[in-house]
Amino acid sequence: MRKKIVAGNWKMNTTVPEGVELAKAVVAKSAEVPADVTLIVATPFTHLCPVAAVVEGTRVALSAENCADKEKGAYTGEVSAAMLASAGCKYTILGHSERRQYYGETDEKLVEKTRLALANGLDVILCVGENLDEREAGRHFDVCEAQIKNVLFNFSAEELKHIVIAYEPVWAIGTGKTATAAQAEEIHAFIRKTVAGKFGAEAAEEVSILYGGSCKPSNAKELFAEKDIDGGLIGGAALKADDFIGIAVSF
Ligand code: 13P
Repeated sequence: MRKKIVAGNWKMNTTVPEGVELAKAVVAKSAEVPADVTLIVATPFTHLCPVAAVVEGTRVALSAENCADKEKGAYTGEVSAAMLASAGCKYTILGHSERRQYYGETDEKLVEKTRLALANGLDVILCVGENLDEREAGRHFDVCEAQIKNVLFNFSAEELKHIVIAYEPVWAIGTGKTATAAQAEEIHAFIRKTVAGKFGAEAAEEVSILYGGSCKPSNAKELFAEKDIDGGLIGGAALKADDFIGIAVSF
């Protein structure tokens, strides 16, 4: 049985005290969520240590939003996978479209980042997804397939067990425009088929594929009811504990 996961990506929001309060509120409400749902909060680097102290010993796991593509050394401003693990992270998000779009994150760099994250004991939430032009040109399948092949196919079936895929259509992120459940399911099933082509049907069945893009309590149920949608990567709605938990109870 693959894992059901609801992960909050806080992006560049909240000060440290605000983030600590948000994490406390998520922990306080987490008992409302069915026990088989994994809850994750992905915070800015500055928040990781204090939030780690809040979530320690609870069912809420800590994630970073990114990590360096180098192991260590003279890379000013970067944060390594080993540092994240030592700060209490269990996961890191990698390849978010905002990093691809604004910070020149390439598939090549993502291979290195994923390799280092896994080597340091982190599980990876690997994001893929097409932008509006690509969707309108009917290229969404090709774009997601290429992103999956360029990154994921460099890893073994054993490593795949530590990777979660997040499908986030760029046109649905922060726009209030959600993919319909049918649109999302179509791509999720396609991604699973692509994974199966390399790793086999059994391994593909075990991979959790999350949907991200204007997911909220009012639409989560419909999305999560789809066969290949195993949860969500939540942006805006993760900044309010009520909404985040409201999504997580939607399975
Ligand atoms: P929103 O939920 O704000 O659309 O963001 C989704 C996202 O990018 C999560 O990583």
